[in-house]
Amino acid sequence: MKRYQYEPKCVDEIVVRQFTFEFPDDLDPIWVPDHVVRSHLFNGLSLTMPYLEPFLVKTMREASEHITDPELLQDMRGFNGQEACHYKCHRRLNELLKSNGYPELADVEARLARSYEKLSTKSLRTRLAYSAGFECMTNGFTTWLINERTQLFAHASPVVSSVWLMHMIEETEHRTVAFDAYMA
Ligand SMILES: [Fe+2]
Ligand SMILES: [Fe+2]
Repeated sequence: MKRYQYEPKCVDEIVVRQFTFEFPDDLDPIWVPDHVVRSHLFNGLSLTMPYLEPFLVKTMREASEHITDPELLQDMRGFNGQEACHYKCHRRLNELLKSNGYPELADVEARLARSYEKLSTKSLRTRLAYSAGFECMTNGFTTWLINERTQLFAHASPVVSSVWLMHMIEETEHRTVAFDAYMA
């Protein structure tokens, strides 16, 4: 049986871009006009990011203490740099969702915080498997979002659409790293 072996990424490099987006203070949480469900589908996903992505970063950091392959370690640093930038953008967006009509989302955030705290007590192996699984799922979501972008984001807020596109495009760059770290 063929054993797993690390292979370098399809991309030349995982680029850490320190991007930021300026959200207007009066940002409408229904940022895809006339599409309440679509807006809230993405808002719900955005809510998870400041809990999920720091969890991924922490898990990768801990895993890196057990990994010696310099190329994979470099990938993991790129992964962490990208994820750290993502959740900071989502955190600012989520603050506006709460202050512009949905303060009750703070309860959802509290539940997310508890859930990820509990997950953080699991073994490194379990946390890496979760991370690899989540990134694998993200890849399917990314393919859908990028292929459907013109329909999904027609007439939508350019800044919120851009956050999602930028985020998901970076996901394609580091998509295999969590799996590689788990296998290593
Ligand atoms: Fe991300
Ligand atoms: Fe990711």
